Amino acid sequence: MKTGVCYYPEHWPEERWAIDAKQMREMGLQVIRIGEFAWSKLENHEGQLSFDWLERAIDTLHNEGLSIVLGTPTATPPRWMLDKHPDMLAVDINGRIRDFGSRRHYCFSYQPYIEECKRIVTLLAQKFGTHPAVIAWQTDNEYGCHETSISYSKHALTAFQHWCSEQYDSIHQLNEAWGNVFWSMEYDSYDQIGLPTGTVTESNPSHQLAYWRFSSDQIRSFNKAQVDVLREHSPGKDVLHNFMGNFVEFDHHLVSKDLDIATWDNYPLGFLTRDNTDPLDQERFSRTGHPDGSSFHHDLYRGCCNGRWWVMEQQPGPVNWAPYNPSPVDGMVRLWGWEAFAHGAEVMSYFRWRQAPFAQEQTHAGLLLSDATEDVAAREVAQLNRELQTLQTHAKAHSLIDAGSQYAINAADSLKSDIAIVFDYAGIAIQDIQPPGGQHFSALGFCQKVYGACRQWGANVDVVSPDASLLSYKLVILCTSTEDKPALLENLLNAKNQSNTVIAIFPGTASRNSNYRIPEILPPGGLQELIALRVIRSESLPPHESLTAQTDDNQTFACGQWRECIQSDLKPAAVFEDNWGFHYADKRTHYVNAIPENSTLLKIIGDFLREADIDAVDLGPYLRTQRIGPWRLAFNYGMETVDLANNLGPLFNFDDQTSVIIGSRTLHQGEIAVWAAG
Ligand code: GAL
Repeated sequence: MKTGVCYYPEHWPEERWAIDAKQMREMGLQVIRIGEFAWSKLENHEGQLSFDWLERAIDTLHNEGLSIVLGTPTATPPRWMLDKHPDMLAVDINGRIRDFGSRRHYCFSYQPYIEECKRIVTLLAQKFGTHPAVIAWQTDNEYGCHETSISYSKHALTAFQHWCSEQYDSIHQLNEAWGNVFWSMEYDSYDQIGLPTGTVTESNPSHQLAYWRFSSDQIRSFNKAQVDVLREHSPGKDVLHNFMGNFVEFDHHLVSKDLDIATWDNYPLGFLTRDNTDPLDQERFSRTGHPDGSSFHHDLYRGCCNGRWWVMEQQPGPVNWAPYNPSPVDGMVRLWGWEAFAHGAEVMSYFRWRQAPFAQEQTHAGLLLSDATEDVAAREVAQLNRELQTLQTHAKAHSLIDAGSQYAINAADSLKSDIAIVFDYAGIAIQDIQPPGGQHFSALGFCQKVYGACRQWGANVDVVSPDASLLSYKLVILCTSTEDKPALLENLLNAKNQSNTVIAIFPGTASRNSNYRIPEILPPGGLQELIALRVIRSESLPPHESLTAQTDDNQTFACGQWRECIQSDLKPAAVFEDNWGFHYADKRTHYVNAIPENSTLLKIIGDFLREADIDAVDLGPYLRTQRIGPWRLAFNYGMETVDLANNLGPLFNFDDQTSVIIGSRTLHQGEIAVWAAG
């Protein structure tokens, strides 16, 4: 793994660039991302290009041997662009225009802006596409950030009507598919179709899902327009985009089909305080981030571009945008770096080089303070780089890795997990449109809990796309596959027949077709071929209501939020007080028909691991481990010091004789260890 940083030469005097570049090299940084917000400096007035400063900046970095990721500047169109295209702005769900004065002020459906993007990207690619320092391009910046995935502009509406006409043979077929006979919502022609907003009460979920898919496709087309230009004028260079955390507003698997590398922006403390609603997690992880938060996303993005993934922006200290912005405990910046390594990152890049003393992000830490002196993260990153070097030397000495490979480890080859969690963005959208577990239920949040339970048992996990092959996994988990898809069934049948895979299915699976209708044979639709049962009722429960199911030998299972009533000849493993069954199984396929509470979920996942013959040890809430290639790593997120020999043992090849290559045998909070996996 290489490390890097996001750098904004346009924010600092030119005399400073060479000093910065030298200091970056001395810190061990190798990959520098620049340019992604610099449009007004590259083209201050329409057609007046000034690329010379960028060339000098790239050359200055290149002189120190640094590699460049060049960002296309299309997330920040300059002010003159609006005078030229007053109609380019997006419109929010309430009809409000998303105006100039920050960033991402464009609508994905406004074609003249896409042409402007292609023009500036062509010019940049022609100028820098073959520069030896430029190793990759980043398209735009964080598609969808600040709620910009979906626009309700008139241009979006026209494009949506056209999109619908391509999805259906006729307007009558669309009416039929959406069930528009309900409430007399039928259309006579595509141009009568409106936006799924501004309606008296909720609009048809079929209409909402179609609009979600359309908006996702618009992002893919917007991105592809730039990718095509870059491929033409900068052949052989990687093209990537920086995705976000806890973000499911478009289908990242589809957008990734046009990219070489999926990268993402990791702000563990920001995500915890903004997105996690569990008060206990908030309290114990506010300065470390959730132990499974970063790794979930690492594994998700590893599944997007055949194993090639980076962290493009990593939190270096307090951020500026969460409800609270605490400082990480000492060591966390180093730990997050090692964690990315453990999940196969090619590059870990920090945001940002130097804290900005102006504009929106003044309180966001960098590697340097705004006066250019080193901040805490600079020291931790330098340490991480020294240690990565030590590990590489050690590996070469022991012939553990191929010394000639571009990257020390190829994630796709070296990270074989026994468990696949299928992650379906559209499946999550279906649940979010009409949350089946009530207003507090989060499909993404539940999926992360399932993932976290696997991690607590010490397992490596792949988070895979809905069309990924499932062959050779010992355990496949479905908790976001809400759409009944014949291709998924086929993949599951292949895995079951050829690998004897254990399949675990959670509520809502295959409960809607692609048009948001209940399958004719009832949920779980086609998956009834795997397990003979039908869901005949689904209920959501208020937050305080907990239900307990009991087995014949008095084991109990606590569930809440969402429960399904099952009709089947199969005998359930347990029964709720009101006689609804809980947990059906048939030949290594399991259907868990309620949302288990945390400890129940841990137990159920543990049972699946044992049935699938995957070794497991309960690591508790704070300690995590991951195997990559010839190594195993451990991470301590908790306040209590952990003695690895006591907590890990033979399964993880750790005993009194184990010699640790990096780190120590006892881990204080925020510390890590690396040793030979055996
Ligand atoms: C990201 C964004 C960066 C910066 C950062 C601050 O979402 O890509 O440009 O704003 O957040 O944490």
